[in-house]
This record gives sequence, C-alpha cells and structure tokens, in this order.
Amino acid sequence: MRIPRHLAIIMDGNGRWAEQRGLPRILGHRHGVETAKTIIEECRRMGVAYLTLYAFSSENWGRPNEEVDSLMALLNTFLDKELQTLLTHRIRLNVIGAIDRLPAQVRDTLFRTMERTAQNRDMVLTLALSYGARDEILGAVRTLVEEVQSGQLKPDAIDEQCFSRALQTSGMPDPDFLIRTSGEIRISNFLLWQLAYAEIYFTPVLWPDFSPAHLHDAFVEFERRERRYGLTAEQLPDKCDD
Ligand code: FPP
Repeated sequence: MRIPRHLAIIMDGNGRWAEQRGLPRILGHRHGVETAKTIIEECRRMGVAYLTLYAFSSENWGRPNEEVDSLMALLNTFLDKELQTLLTHRIRLNVIGAIDRLPAQVRDTLFRTMERTAQNRDMVLTLALSYGARDEILGAVRTLVEEVQSGQLKPDAIDEQCFSRALQTSGMPDPDFLIRTSGEIRISNFLLWQLAYAEIYFTPVLWPDFSPAHLHDAFVEFERRERRYGLTAEQLPDKCDD
C-alpha cells in the first residue's frame, strides 16, 4: 500500500462524541487522547515518516477556561506518560505554534520530551499547539522582512523554498495527505501554505471512534488518488475531468 510520507490530521469531534453520550466534553478529549496514541503507533508501524496532529488551535483559547485547563492537563499527562512509547518506537517529538502562550508546566514538559527524543529517527511527531497558520505565515513574513532590512537577504531571493524555510515546519516535507474527522469540511487555519498540493480526506467518524481500520481506509483512498493522478486524463477509464 502507498503510505503518505507526511500525514496531517485535524482531530475533530471529541466534544460531539461526549455530548452524544450525555458525558462532559472533557471525557471526549480523554478518549481523543487514547485515539491519538493508537493512531500514532499505527502510523509508525505503517511507515509514515512525518505525522502532524492539530491538537490545539489558536482559536481554542476562546473555549471555557475549564475546558482549556483540562486540555492542557491532558496534554501534560500524555507527554509524561508516553515518553517511553516515543523512545521505544524511536519517534522524535516536535511542536509548532505559539508555544509561549502555553502554561509554563506544559512548555517544560514539551521541551524536556523534545530533548529526550531528539535523536530518534523513525518518525517525527509534530503537535500543533496554540497553532494558527495565518499567525505562522505572518511570523515568516516578519522574519524575512528583518533579514531584508539587515541586508542578509535580497527581496529577489524570496522564493517558495526560502519562504518555506521561514515557517515553523522548516525542514519537513509538505504534507501529502490531510485527514479531518467528524464530517466538518474545512481546513480551519491549519498549515495553509504547506497543504497547497495535499490530498484531502474528510470522514464523518468522530475522532474518539477513529480506529486503525479507518486509517487504512483513508490510505486506500490516498493510494487510489495517487494512482489516478499519475495518469493523463486520456488514460483514465472514465475520462472525467474533475
Ligand atoms: C476537537 O474536538 C479536538 C480538540 C480541540 C482537541 C484535540 C485534542 C485531543 C484529541 C487530545 C490531545 C491530543 C494529544 C496528541 C495529546 P472538539 O472539541 O472540537 O469537538 P467538537 O467539534 O465535537 O466540539
């Protein structure tokens, strides 16, 4: 099976999953973390080289304090508890987003985990935390403007590679596949620059219910699309032009 080199996932639907069961939203997030663990391990097993998870958006700060605090606590526990899993599977942890906005304790745990896993080479797991793509793009613009102002960079030298290097995902290939769960059909300010050529897959399955079998279904679809786009329009059996 053809596996994406860089898979990005918008893990959506934890709240609805809980509400459907008459449970508090945080229990949905707790199940969401379990799903994240399972999917991280499955991606590693299947040979995904880069996995990027949208775990907390810049807009998510607007949620009730109680929910934000619980999400931060869950994240902290996840990092503490899963360090051994990351080491065993030789997964390197990476993070993108406005990290300075995170509580100090979460930041410390993140930095510690990144340091401990820095030598791992089998998969890069990037958590997008307090992340918004427009913010990221503006940050890149500021960096480049400063370099131009200080004379290190000529405006003519600003091409796509140069711009990509100024983003927080610098050094990573662009995602070739994006999955969004829960039936929402939006990108929601996630990796706007990097997703330019990605195949996008939307599934109605809520994130806590998303299983390795659902991931395999998504990969089958990825392979089907890749195979199709490798052909010219004339070669396609139905000659459709969408
Ligand atoms: C979307 O569900 C999910 C989030 C805002 C947070 C995602 C976080 C996790 C799955 C846990 C953290 C993951 C790791 C890897 C530690 P929602 O609340 O927007 O659901 P709704 O749209 O149904 O309300």
